[in-house]
Amino acid sequence: MLDLGLLLTLYPPPRRGAMNTADQTAIRVRGLRKSYKDLHVLRGVDLDVARGSIVALLGSNGAGKTTMVRILATLLKPDGGTASVNGYDVVAEPERVRESISLTGQFAAVDAILTGRENLVMIAKLRQVAEPRTVADALLERFGLADAAGRRVSTYSGGMRRRLDIAMSLIGDPAVIYLDEPTTGLDPEGRLEVWQVVQDLADGGTTVLLTTQYLDEAEKLADRIAILHEGAIITSGTLAELRELLPPAKVEYVERQPTLEEIFLSIVGGKATSGSEEERR
Ligand SMILES: Nc1ncnc2c1ncn2[C@@H]1O[C@H](COP(=O)(O)OP(=O)(O)O)[C@@H](O)[C@H]1O
Ligand SMILES: [Mg+2]
Repeated sequence: MLDLGLLLTLYPPPRRGAMNTADQTAIRVRGLRKSYKDLHVLRGVDLDVARGSIVALLGSNGAGKTTMVRILATLLKPDGGTASVNGYDVVAEPERVRESISLTGQFAAVDAILTGRENLVMIAKLRQVAEPRTVADALLERFGLADAAGRRVSTYSGGMRRRLDIAMSLIGDPAVIYLDEPTTGLDPEGRLEVWQVVQDLADGGTTVLLTTQYLDEAEKLADRIAILHEGAIITSGTLAELRELLPPAKVEYVERQPTLEEIFLSIVGGKATSGSEEERR
């Protein structure tokens, strides 16, 4: 069932001139803290996302990625620290933040009973864009869904659904989009489809905060990678900067750059795959 309250939160009607263009930092997080009872998930997170860039928030299952995204989407209140999006504080100005963003990923808002086109038109109407049908058709074309536009989403592949979900999040031209594990649960073909779509978004100048537990995904898509581990960003930078943390491995006669996986494992001490059951201090 569709939750209209959630939809309105995720897709509010935009306000003209809502963008605070003076600020070149799309997302700024300082000392962010969040606990669930005595589980201290975020323990002082600092993060900057420049306008027009793709930043991957990389962390194992249970690291707190969705918690971060929910705070940045104003769906969850932090316990301490500050976070601003598009120049607006998530606690003091949540409505302005919601007008600046869209969120997609782990909980897709796509309604399987409706067709792809109907889903897009519904969101376009919620966001009060002019000519919702024209907008929907342009997005269907752009995301390779034109042929499937009249089919119920229940008949779509995982990759098609995820592409539709991302298309929905672009309606109304949000300044910042959050993709929370956009390829988790997809087969390899679906992953490649979504990767292509995210790449296109970046080329179009949208700011993207992407969460992922896949190193190859971060490596492939992100301008910068921030590693969230045990409640904090333990390191961040471009892939090249992260590579400098490790000397190139000499394998026989061939000098080889370390992979992001090797860097990640070296930084987190080989605990990368221990998952959400990991004991927290
Ligand atoms: N509403 C909640 N109540 C209690 N614990 C939660 C809640 N949401 C998440 N958690 C716990 O917080 C930790 C971080 O969760 P989450 O942010 O979803 O991580 P990720 O998205 O990186 O997998 C996990 O251990 C998870 O079980
Ligand atoms: Mg998550």
